[in-house]
Amino acid sequence: MPEINEIRKEFPILGEKVYGKQLVYLDNAATTQKPECVIDTISEVYRTINSNVHRGVHHLSGVATERMEEARRIVQKFVGARHSREIIFTRGTTESINLVAASFGSTLRAGDEVILSTLEHHSNIVPWQLLRERTGIELRIAPLNGNGSIDLEAFKELFTSRTRLCSIAHVSNVLGVTNPVEEIIGIAHGHGVPVLVDGAQSTPHTRIDLAALDADFFAFSGHKAYGPTGVGVLYGKEELLEMMPPYHGGGEMIKNVTFEKTTFNELPFKFEAGTPDYVGIIALGRALQWISDIGIENIAEHERALTRYTLEQLKAIPSIRIFGKPDNAAISFLAGNIHPADLGTILDRLGIAIRTGHHCAQPLMDYLGIPGTVRASFAVYNTKEEVDIFIKGVERAIKMFA
Ligand code: ALA
Repeated sequence: MPEINEIRKEFPILGEKVYGKQLVYLDNAATTQKPECVIDTISEVYRTINSNVHRGVHHLSGVATERMEEARRIVQKFVGARHSREIIFTRGTTESINLVAASFGSTLRAGDEVILSTLEHHSNIVPWQLLRERTGIELRIAPLNGNGSIDLEAFKELFTSRTRLCSIAHVSNVLGVTNPVEEIIGIAHGHGVPVLVDGAQSTPHTRIDLAALDADFFAFSGHKAYGPTGVGVLYGKEELLEMMPPYHGGGEMIKNVTFEKTTFNELPFKFEAGTPDYVGIIALGRALQWISDIGIENIAEHERALTRYTLEQLKAIPSIRIFGKPDNAAISFLAGNIHPADLGTILDRLGIAIRTGHHCAQPLMDYLGIPGTVRASFAVYNTKEEVDIFIKGVERAIKMFA
């Protein structure tokens, strides 16, 4: 693995100053910064091959199409999917989950059940509530154990003859805790129930091997994995995607249209109506290649070491309360009675970017009995020196409020 300082040089934004201070960017669970090669790819596509994909007979359209389909194969390889047609491009994790809730969800009937968990992001709660309003399904919520991950014993008890799907996060965006997804999928499959894994917070930090994991659906966002905003992925097992109706209607997703009847295109195009963000998709492919060149295991090792180091430093501060047992690049905490927004504002003035609030997980906040947390989250370019600056900032804020 290259030296972290060499990796940092690839990220122009990391040289920026905030209020005259060197930027310390610890809000990577919200979005990661972009390496030069991703920024350059976006520019290169617009400068040299921009053309609508899958449509034209002309040269540029063919090149753009080939580059987009190459990106699909890069994604397929990155997540260990069996076929590239199982990779659907979306706008992000949120749209991927909405696609499943709308399309797979349309096969559910009143009284059918979907299992979620207490720690889900709103993007894995609200689409199911919208489906509940339309169809009368029921939602069953898996509780957490003392570590902040899904309680497997309680999870097992949630299955009934009406359970149709489990939709759960791989890693909590708030607690940085990894759920035992292998066991969860094993239990669900034992009941013949498919599982959607929200991989938004795991894909940038952990090797994803869908062939081994056997998830039925898997969703992630490009922008949290060093790629551009506005592009994401839904993986679905071919047999499920085949039986699901289209999500959006429009160009590209059809085979033949008359006013009487429309037949739909084959996978994956059935789920990709309209002009896709082919520029973003090509740049996402570049970002995933960049990750693979460094090695996802190397990234994971570095980030886990940083997480452990930060936890040690935070635990040494008496008034700090850490939530859950973080193992995956994000730590949520409170410092005494300091409001998270106040702590966030003080850190911001020191050039340190972290996230505060409910992190789009209000039911988890209710469960923890708090309005919000302060969250520091890491990427491959973060350093121990940055953690030290962050810890000093937290200590300074605590003194100010003492
Ligand atoms: N879901 C992103 C986060 O947790 C935005 O920060």
